Amino acid sequence: MRLVPVLSALAMVSLGFVLGFSFPASMTPNLQCGVLPWSGSTNSSSSESFLGRLWAPLLRNSSSTSNATTGLHGIARRPEGAGRLPPGIVVSESDLHLRRLWGSPSQDAPVRKYLLTMAVGHKERVNVNATVHKFSDKFDMLMFHYDGHTTEWDDEFQWSKEAVHVSARKQTKWWFAKRFLHPSIVAPYDYVFLWDEDLGVDNFNAEAYIDIVKKHRLEISQPGLDSTKGKSAYKVSVKRNSGEMHKTDAGGNWCPDVHKRPCSGFVEVMAPVFSRDAWRCVWHMIQNDLVHGWGLDYNLWRCVDDPEEQFGIVDAQYVVHHVVPTLKDQGNGEKQGSRAKIKDRQYEEWHAFDSRLDNADKELANSTTRSSSQP
Ligand SMILES: *[C@@H]1O[C@H](CO)[C@@H](O)[C@H](O)[C@H]1NC(C)=O
Ligand SMILES: *[C@@H]1O[C@H](CO)[C@@H](O)[C@H](O)[C@H]1NC(C)=O
Ligand SMILES: *[C@@H]1O[C@H](CO)[C@@H](O)[C@H](O)[C@H]1NC(C)=O
Ligand SMILES: *[C@@H]1O[C@H](CO)[C@@H](O)[C@H](O)[C@H]1NC(C)=O
Ligand SMILES: *[C@@H]1O[C@H](CO)[C@@H](O)[C@H](O)[C@H]1NC(C)=O
Repeated sequence: MRLVPVLSALAMVSLGFVLGFSFPASMTPNLQCGVLPWSGSTNSSSSESFLGRLWAPLLRNSSSTSNATTGLHGIARRPEGAGRLPPGIVVSESDLHLRRLWGSPSQDAPVRKYLLTMAVGHKERVNVNATVHKFSDKFDMLMFHYDGHTTEWDDEFQWSKEAVHVSARKQTKWWFAKRFLHPSIVAPYDYVFLWDEDLGVDNFNAEAYIDIVKKHRLEISQPGLDSTKGKSAYKVSVKRNSGEMHKTDAGGNWCPDVHKRPCSGFVEVMAPVFSRDAWRCVWHMIQNDLVHGWGLDYNLWRCVDDPEEQFGIVDAQYVVHHVVPTLKDQGNGEKQGSRAKIKDRQYEEWHAFDSRLDNADKELANSTTRSSSQP
């Protein structure tokens, strides 16, 4: 009997649709950085509801989530599609935990506290196996496969049979994350790891890492990068020997202004770790069509209250970034120039992301000015 649901991309996409459309809206009062894209859209022409959506974070405390679907105000917040149901039966969150086909549901093993997700290719399986072994049984696991190989993992690795597998050819980590890590699906997990497959983990242990993250209340973090072995694009993420974690590259050659990126409020994208709240926000910032995620690292700071305090690089648990360009070799099939074309797209996406953000910032500033001048 097979325990492992190896879900084809198609099945997961349709599952995503079902979950996406019927569950999440009751989380609205809980969101930190904005509101689900579709909520409130019916009246988006009115500047009041426009602002209402923008300032949703301030509403966070104003209504109890458990009672969000009841009462006069609650009716407006009822999850879209669930309006016909008695609120008591509405389930607006899920998880990525495997269950048994038998036994009492109440006695199934409980959902794990944390979630490990990785975008992987079968060629990198030895390294992925080593990484997975640094994560304890407190983690549920979700593997994103970009090369079409999924069931093969079960042949070699016992843990693979306890993981959820999602397969879609030639897709990036951010493409997968946008589609399969909706905040309503990862809601039970205190921390979400969104990791690459090419990390050396000899000096890393996931639970020890989380202990440090909790102790310092880091909302967004990454392990320090061992610059003596692998690569690191930014000084701030290089592992230091001075303590268990650091938050800035203040005073570094590249950091005349500690308040700017990438000197603080910054992590790189190969091994980020998000708290539940931070991820709720980051998910909304990921653009559906911009699959490489370029530019995100410079804007993750928007998803926490105090970036200089709530971002951190964990030095005591560090990794080596090997930079195996596996996905780049999955280009458009032409051997020649395939990588160059991917690079072109990455820059185009980066530019598009920056200009969308710029416009959005201006639009917000504009509407704020207008609404405060005409109350
Ligand atoms: C917007 O809200 C108003 C009042 O609540 C309602 O009369 C109107 O039909 C709504 N507009 C749309 C496009 O739903
Ligand atoms: C929410 O409530 C907590 C505790 O009651 C308070 O510390 C926090 O400032 C509140 N947040 C907002 C956005 O009102
Ligand atoms: C919802 O609100 C009602 C009335 O205010 C209260 O009696 C009830 O305990 C609340 N339910 C929950 C789950 O908080
Ligand atoms: C997977 O990794 C573990 C821990 O490093 C190791 O003991 C095991 O032999 C590896 N399995 C395979 C099939 O390489
Ligand atoms: C601000 O809003 C007004 C009214 O909608 C519009 O005419 C103007 O072009 C906007 N300005 C910017 C910078 O978006």
